[in-house]
Amino acid sequence: MSFMLRMSWLLASLFFASLSAQNQTTLLTPKPGPAPRLNGPLVYGCRPGHPFLYRVPTQGQRPIQFSADKLPATLHLDPHTGFITGTAPDRGSYQITLMAKNRYGKTKRPFKIVSGDTLALTPPMGWNHWYAHYDRITDKLIREAADSMIQNGMADVGYQFVNIDDCWMNAEKNRDPLRVGPLRDADGRMMSNQHFPDMKALTDYIHHKGLKAGIYSSPGPTTCAGFCGSYEHEAQDAKQFADWGFDFLKYDWCSYDQVVKQVRTIENLQKPYRQMGDLLRQQERDIVLNLCQYGMGNVWEWGAQVGGHSWRTAGDLGYELNRIFQVALKNAKHRVWSKPGSWNDPDYIQIGYIGNARTAGEPEPCPFTAEEQYAFMSLWSLMASPLFYSGDLNRMDALTLNVLCNPEVIEINQDPLGVCARVDSLSPETFLMVKEMADGSTAIGLCNSGEQPARITAAWPQCGLRGKKIVRDVWRHRDLGLFDASLTLAVPRHGVVLVRAWDVGKKRIL
Ligand code: GAL
Repeated sequence: MSFMLRMSWLLASLFFASLSAQNQTTLLTPKPGPAPRLNGPLVYGCRPGHPFLYRVPTQGQRPIQFSADKLPATLHLDPHTGFITGTAPDRGSYQITLMAKNRYGKTKRPFKIVSGDTLALTPPMGWNHWYAHYDRITDKLIREAADSMIQNGMADVGYQFVNIDDCWMNAEKNRDPLRVGPLRDADGRMMSNQHFPDMKALTDYIHHKGLKAGIYSSPGPTTCAGFCGSYEHEAQDAKQFADWGFDFLKYDWCSYDQVVKQVRTIENLQKPYRQMGDLLRQQERDIVLNLCQYGMGNVWEWGAQVGGHSWRTAGDLGYELNRIFQVALKNAKHRVWSKPGSWNDPDYIQIGYIGNARTAGEPEPCPFTAEEQYAFMSLWSLMASPLFYSGDLNRMDALTLNVLCNPEVIEINQDPLGVCARVDSLSPETFLMVKEMADGSTAIGLCNSGEQPARITAAWPQCGLRGKKIVRDVWRHRDLGLFDASLTLAVPRHGVVLVRAWDVGKKRIL
């Protein structure tokens, strides 16, 4: 072989070796095995007497046979689909055991149904159309989103809501003539535009997949994109959303400033949300309410009192994609308000293919490195934030799915205690995030917002821990070993290493 040939062969093999090393380090979440693995929250809230629908999130090769022990008599679990349907039982707490088996193995998992006043006992999870499709959203894209969530495995790790954002109604003016038309019919009912010919058929489609449907409105006369809002038709709209079969409402302040003439007293800020919260509670179905008013009047202090289950703590993340760490640090300041049924919402997970927030353009790859994407998901999980993916589900790549679908990471987000991690600053660029978990374990994020890799130490006293702990890397599903007093790990630039620490000998549900 000539020298030149040998050199190019060497360079080529170095290139491919580095590519495969990159692939190995890039995709952190191991592939799920063929045996069943039951995922999803350990606790689930519903209101007595309302229609009940829950698709038991389960990985593993189909067919899987599902069963349950101690399911209330008003509920039925379909052994083939794993959907629990029926009527929410009388007020009370029902401790159930879910079971799943296929030809590769069997497993079980505890599941508590709490029938009472509180919904969203763990942070809501799903998909929202906004950052993928903006004002191009159609019935077809929403159906495709539901199909994708089933096909790509997102539903098997707990993503549940398929949420329509703005632009499903009519506007007086729009670049798309199919979105222009009467805002309401002769009886005052809000009309969907021609891209949404039959809202009930759409929610039926979503429900038949075991998923739930979300819708969007504003308390003002128009939404942020200039479409019909609910002002002066609130009761009619709440009933309409329930009749159509929606399970979630995002209620976006938008033009409500016109109603209160720009006077943002706490009373004015609360009024439209309290009104909608009361109206939704009067409906015959469970509807989760998301307050979107960008954090005005310290909404975290009163969002739950007015009937909200989550509230955006700041403006649109669409404009702050390069500031994920700062956004998280700001959001985590409101940690004391995070609890079952009441969640601080720092906005959607925007990874994979997302639209350009400034131009509302077609989806294109997000500007994040792999480490930044894993960091995004780690921070949102540690903060017990609602987990809504808002990217193009038709263009999911392996990395995006790998970031979104790690059941051990999601388990941290969905922990029944509902605690948002506390932040412990180590240097201007490094910090720890520490989250207590219901089983007595502790989730710890070693976070590096700096431009260089860093070695970060989590000292046990700083994490509220004492004595020997078994520590697990939850992204890689790998135990790191026993640690007496601290843990030191290398953390990439703009990265988070996420671990969970248990007392030695403690029974772990993994
Ligand atoms: C914004 C909201 C976004 C999106 C948009 C729709 O106010 O924060 O999440 O819903 O309106 O117009």
